This record gives sequence, C-alpha cells and structure tokens, in this order.
Amino acid sequence: MTVSMAIIGGTGVYDPNILSNIRDETITTPFGETAVKIGEYQGREVAFMNRHGAGHSVPPHLVNYRANIAGLKKLGVKTILATAAVGSINEKMKPGDFVFCDQFLDFTKSRAQTFFNGGEHGVVHVDVTDPYCPDLRKIMAKVADELNLSYHQGGVYVTTEGPRYESPAEIKMFKMLGGDLVGMTSVPEVILAREAGICYATVCMVTNFGAGISENPLTHEEVLEVMNKNAENLRKLAMGTISALDPDRECYCHTAVEGPMHELLKG
Ligand code: HPA
Repeated sequence: MTVSMAIIGGTGVYDPNILSNIRDETITTPFGETAVKIGEYQGREVAFMNRHGAGHSVPPHLVNYRANIAGLKKLGVKTILATAAVGSINEKMKPGDFVFCDQFLDFTKSRAQTFFNGGEHGVVHVDVTDPYCPDLRKIMAKVADELNLSYHQGGVYVTTEGPRYESPAEIKMFKMLGGDLVGMTSVPEVILAREAGICYATVCMVTNFGAGISENPLTHEEVLEVMNKNAENLRKLAMGTISALDPDRECYCHTAVEGPMHELLKG
C-alpha cells in the first residue's frame, strides 16, 4: 500500500486517533530526518506528522519544514491536509470557526523557503497563484457542509515569524494589507508542498482575535483550550476529507515542479 495522504497536525492536534495499526517511522531526507506515524483508515494508509514534534517541543521558526515535506514526498504522499491554530483579524471569523484559507502574506524572516538552492538542482520559481489547492478546499467545504460546521471558504493567512504573538500595531497593519488570519507556520510549508508537487490545503481553526482586538493578553493556554473544544469537529472534518478523496486523483499541484524534486530526493 502506498501512503498517498498525510495530515500535518499543528498546535493542539497531536494525536492521530483517527488511524488504526499505527507505526512510527523516521525518514531520512537530504534536509535532515523527520518522524511520522503511519496508520490505516478505511483500508488506506495515511501518514500523520506533528509539525511541532513530540510534546510541542519545536517552535514555529525552527520547524524543519523541508525535511517534513521532503519526508512525506519520499513516502509517496500526494495530498496533505494541514491544520493550523490562528488568530483572527477579521471580525467575521470568530474563535471556534474553521477557515479554509486561500492566500498568504509572508512576514517570516529566517526560514528556508525552497528545496532548490541552485547548483546541480537548479533554480525554481514556483507558481503560487493558488497556493492552497482549490479542489481540495472545495472537498473540505463539502464535508464541512455535511457536518454542519461553521466555516469560511477563503481567507488570507498572514505568516509571522513568531514565536511571540503580534503587537496591536502589527495587527492593524496586517488588517490594512488585507490579512484575515495570523499564524506562524503556513509559510514556508505551503510553498514547499507546491515545489514537491504535493496537493496541499490548510484547515485553520480560529482560537482568538489578534492582539489589540482581543481585550485580554494572548496566551498559548487560551489557544489550546479552543483547539481542544473543537478537536472532535476537526477529527470529523479530517476523516470526511480522507474518505472523500480519490487517492488516484490528478491535480495541477502534482505537476508544478515534479521532475526536479524526484531527482533531488534521490540524493
Ligand atoms: N497570532 C499568531 N499565531 C497564532 C495566534 C495569534 O494570535 N493564535 C494562534 N496562533
């Protein structure tokens, strides 16, 4: 069986409890090692990866995004459903809501954003007109409709460097620039998935309003509390999306930079 589908669990999503017969694997890539759990769901093998490592031990700016995505590519993964806890800077997107984001703004500062650093692997200028797969987002919305979940189709995810939360002045600026959500991880994960030719979408879970909109100082505990309250809905959404996915489906995302990535992963 090939592992064609993966879930990348972000903050508050640490448990691959929708899978059975789970085994641990460590995958070696040209960018370092990555750990993954592989289990079964409805007769399919599905990978589960903790973005922040065991016990939320890796902060967003130190996640080895390249090893994670290259590792999933090596397993044969063609579709990634990522989860992300986010703050909201759009009053229509409230704590507890799901958002299937469709665009990003990049305010990261120190992260490797490409697999292709020249030399023998060349230089790649990947297209990110639709960074989050529109087809996959449609499937997620259909599943969310069936489950009667409150969601928003589309939203601009502002990726900050973290690990601190934002200042109220930054939140005001992000709002003026057209942002809807703030989080610390979507870039470069979404970009690397596209370079790897993996179809990728994120289900964002709003856990709080951004600094200065929220009346209280922000805490990681508050974020976890909202994530925990909605864990069951997120689980159902993930299960429904896996069930609805045709593992053999073809998608533009698969062909964006397919050839060079295969070569690179041989190394
Ligand atoms: N800012 C950045 N990242 C976050 C937030 C936030 O307000 N909430 C959850 N993740």
